[in-house]
Amino acid sequence: MAKIGYAIIGCGNIGPVHAAAIAAVPAAKLVAVSDVVEATAKKLAGKYGAAMYTDYRKMLERKDIQAVCLCVPSGMRMEIAVACAAAGKNILSEKPLDVTTKRIDKIIAATDKAGVRLGCIFQSRFAEGSQQIKKAVEQGRFGALTLGDAYIKWYRSPEYYASGAWRGTWKLDGGGALMNQGIHQIDLLQWFMGPVKSVRAQTTRRLHAGLEVEDTATAMLEFENGAFGVIEGSTAIWPGHPARVEVHGSSGSAYTEDGAIKFWQFAKRRAVDAKIEAALNQESALGSGAADPLASLKIEGHRRQIDDFTKAILKDRPPLIDGREGRNAVALIEAVYKSARTGKAVTP
Ligand SMILES: NC(=O)c1ccc[n+]([C@@H]2O[C@H](COP(=O)([O-])OP(=O)(O)OC[C@H]3O[C@@H](n4cnc5c(N)ncnc54)[C@H](O)[C@@H]3O)[C@@H](O)[C@H]2O)c1
Repeated sequence: MAKIGYAIIGCGNIGPVHAAAIAAVPAAKLVAVSDVVEATAKKLAGKYGAAMYTDYRKMLERKDIQAVCLCVPSGMRMEIAVACAAAGKNILSEKPLDVTTKRIDKIIAATDKAGVRLGCIFQSRFAEGSQQIKKAVEQGRFGALTLGDAYIKWYRSPEYYASGAWRGTWKLDGGGALMNQGIHQIDLLQWFMGPVKSVRAQTTRRLHAGLEVEDTATAMLEFENGAFGVIEGSTAIWPGHPARVEVHGSSGSAYTEDGAIKFWQFAKRRAVDAKIEAALNQESALGSGAADPLASLKIEGHRRQIDDFTKAILKDRPPLIDGREGRNAVALIEAVYKSARTGKAVTP
């Protein structure tokens, strides 16, 4: 079987999740890893028998690497992505693609110019519940979309923010409870409901007083299709709850918690509904980020997305979540922050 050679840049918390997910995709092979901290790179390389680098530029010279997973802190990705594109490597970046749409546009331009694929990790889209809701929206089962909401009521400890100097900074995290944590559900919300036309928002710090960025935010949305909605995001709610995304319309309602469907009712029943209802109380296959960023994150979401990215390369098609899709959530979060700063409604 032809295998796509992968490399990972950044072997901290999420790098090992990518390594485990690559190992679980038959057509993918981890060839090399890189981290500026030698011991961190060595540990991950040793576990998978991969080559180890402290300088990613040296690693990019290898011909047996076709795809690179970017797992460095969020605001460091643009320069590295531009170098990967120039080296002809396909790029699968962690979320957010970078911390501003300005920087993301440079990544998109560089990958377009080099003719390489750009993917953005949003593993929540690969959860069964997310897929079912998206299908029901496309089939028009909700009728006129009325309200679409994302609730990310999570907890992050002070130790979490202290665990990396980049966390909770504008420059490298790009924001707080929304840009780092809630972005998954914000991505889902726009994927289900369509683009947002206008945002009114407020942000604050309720627990993490020393942070530059918000630990709590609320936003009122108007979607381009006329539906309304809200985003409530926080990392200051103990003990932390499953993240919920709701879609409501004139002929149906559904919502997921951590990607598992918890409510599913439509005025007109279809055969698929009995199967979905039977699975209503099952746990998410993807795990939860409610209280700890990694303790209960399973590799399944990343495995599904890396499988898709690998097939996209092998079959010469775009990945399911490309750079432009990845940009949408950051554009909306930027609008939330701007509205909170100015007190005005903002169009993303
Ligand atoms: N999809 C998810 O659910 C999920 C979960 C956690 C983190 N993330 C994202 O992953 C990214 C990393 O988060 P993390 O928690 O793993 O951070 P981390 O600080 O634990 O790891 C980042 C690693 O990058 C390394 N690094 C920094 N500069 C580098 C360079 N130039 N070359 C090579 N390595 C370099 C650091 O030494 C560190 O080991 C963030 O953007 C975050 O938003 C996504």
